[in-house]
Parts: sequence; C-alpha cells; structure tokens
Amino acid sequence: MSIDPRILALQEEVAGWRRDFHAHPELGYEVHRTAGIVATKLREFGCDEVTEGIGKTGVVGIIHGKNGPGGRVVGLRADMDALPIEEETNLPHRSKISGKMHACGHDGHTAMLLGAAKHLAETRDFAGTVAVIFQPAEEGGAGGKAMVDDGLMDRWNIREVYGMHNMPGIPTGHIAVRPGPIMAAADQFVIRIEGRGAHAATPHLGVDPVVVGAHIVAALQSIASRNADPLKAVVVSTTMFHAGTAFNIIPQRAELTGTVRTLELGMRDLAEKRLTEIATGTAKMFGAVATVEYERGYPATINHPRETAEAVTIAKRLFGSAAVDAEVAPMMGGEDFSYMLEARPGAYLFIGNGDTAGLHHPAYDFNDSALPHGIQLWAEIARSRTAA
Ligand code: NI
Repeated sequence: MSIDPRILALQEEVAGWRRDFHAHPELGYEVHRTAGIVATKLREFGCDEVTEGIGKTGVVGIIHGKNGPGGRVVGLRADMDALPIEEETNLPHRSKISGKMHACGHDGHTAMLLGAAKHLAETRDFAGTVAVIFQPAEEGGAGGKAMVDDGLMDRWNIREVYGMHNMPGIPTGHIAVRPGPIMAAADQFVIRIEGRGAHAATPHLGVDPVVVGAHIVAALQSIASRNADPLKAVVVSTTMFHAGTAFNIIPQRAELTGTVRTLELGMRDLAEKRLTEIATGTAKMFGAVATVEYERGYPATINHPRETAEAVTIAKRLFGSAAVDAEVAPMMGGEDFSYMLEARPGAYLFIGNGDTAGLHHPAYDFNDSALPHGIQLWAEIARSRTAA
C-alpha cells in the first residue's frame, strides 16, 4: 500500500466534508446545498473552470495539468444524492433531515472526488486535463443520463470516464472490478389484469383477477428457470400485488408491479418478450385480459476491457495484487454511470467499505478510512490516463 503523504494529510479535512454531507442529505435533482458546496470548494481549490447546472444540478470542474489546456481529457465521476430512508444510527454526524439519509455512500463519493480535485489542483503533476464530474439523481432519476444529454462529454472533449462506488463486505483498501457487465439493466413492469367482479360466494359468475395474478407471479419465475440460458443472469421480481377492497368481494381488476434485471441485451429482449407473453397468455387462459407496460430503465453498466485493464494495473501498482479483484462477480443492482460508459470508454470500480451495514440499509455509514485509498486511486488514474 502506498498512499502519498500529501493525501494522508487531507484525510481529516475530507472526512469532515463527508460527515457534513452525511448530516445534510438531499434527494434526486434537489441536491442544491451539496452541489453549491462542491462548486464553491472547486473554485477555492483553483480549478480552471467550474460549471454548475449540467444535467439540472450537476457540477463539472476542469483541472489542467502542467502543460495547460489541451491534451487528453479524463473524466472522474461521483454521485451526490441520498435516499428516502430514515437513518437508524446514533452517529454524531447522523442525518439531520427526517426521512432522508446517505445510505449508499454518495456522501463519501462526493467528498473523495473533492479530495482528489484538491490534490490534483495543488500538484498539477499530470499531462492533460482532468474533468471532475459530480452528478445528481443516481438513485432512480437518471442524473448521469441528464448530464450526458446536456453535452457533458462533447463540451469538454472527455475521452475516457471512470466511476467508483463503495462496497460493504470488501475490505477497505481493496478494489474490485471486472471487464464487461458489472451492474445490471434495471427495468420496471406493470401488469394490469381485468377480470369480472363478483360476490366471493359465487366465483362461477366472475373472473377472479387475484387467481389470474397469482398464476402470473408464479409463471414469471419460469423466465429464469426455463427460458434463460442457465449460464446467463436474469432476475424477475414481482414486488407489488394490488387488488380488492373487502373479504367477500372478488375484485374487478388487479395490478402487479415489479422489476427485471439482466446483464446482456439479448437477455433483456428475451425477458421483456416472455414476460409479455406469459402475462397476456395466462390471463387469456382464465378468461381475463392483461395489459403489460414494460419500461426500460438504466442499461447494464458495461466496463470497457482496455480501460478496465488500465485501472486494474494502476490499482495493483498502488495497493498490491492481493488487494485487487479483477474478476469480481457482477451485481444485479442498477447504476446510471451506464449512460456515461455508453458515451465514452471507461470503467466502474468498487472500493472496499469494510465490514459495515449494507448499501441502502438504515444503519449504513460510509467508511472514512477508505478515503485516502479512493483519493489516491483517482489521482493515479488521472495522472496515468491523461498521459496515455
Ligand atoms: Ni449508490
């Protein structure tokens, strides 16, 4: 492990920023306080350019290296938004805002990238230009897409882009990554079943949408077990089943809602097709009618092989081979850094958060001892890739 003493000296200051962000969580695009602090700090650090309002509330800082403007531009991205969860910790820096919490560690990501920006703006010991990217609305709002749609990549001629997310269960100081898909496509579906209402005592006079829905929920599991190649991943989860108003009424209609997660486009197409066929076919079998609304959400996050290999080499050089898992299993969660990786080559990495509560858990807290490792990795990716 080799952490630059100048970065170690930043740790307490960066941890202070992190705890302040943690105490003041903001949701979605409403990250006004956080984005304001980010922009103010980037200006204080002497960034050559600071632009607010990219993708509504995103912030971009530009830091030129020793040769001034020009050269390769490498993007480093952090997310700023929190989650609508009530925090259940007694930490001194626990959320001051009821019902909102930094339960995914985006407070840590923001502070860590700010630390890297401060270090890079001070040292300027690299060839090209670094773009530090702070995005809103990762948790479901597609803030990454909003920034790309707002011209993020073209406006600053960004050539490569990297993202980093903390991961509980991986030791601090360790990095995990893989080439190819690392996070899943996250789609949503709503199935509306129209039956025929009746008295609960006379089912023969109605068409029961609850029974139809129950068959659909069960049959949807055959997509993974019978339609998908057993070596390829697909998750179908029906998470809401709404019907009925009283114990003695067969309702007129029922509604099922859920999510489909896949790592490859072929599987995504297959799951959408089979889900629609199973829902409509099952309903027809019982004399009901089902309509399916299928909405494609974040695409799979697919790491580019060359840039992933470069990041692995850098991480191993910094932290040692034993601290770098270059073939971590993909996760079936969604991540909107996927849109940035569709726009430019790059990689999305996990940084160990140690033995903490899991992501999105009310007792979760970002591990400040991971900060120097993350700042060091950001700085080395910047130095190495701007010189490529
Ligand atoms: Ni997250």
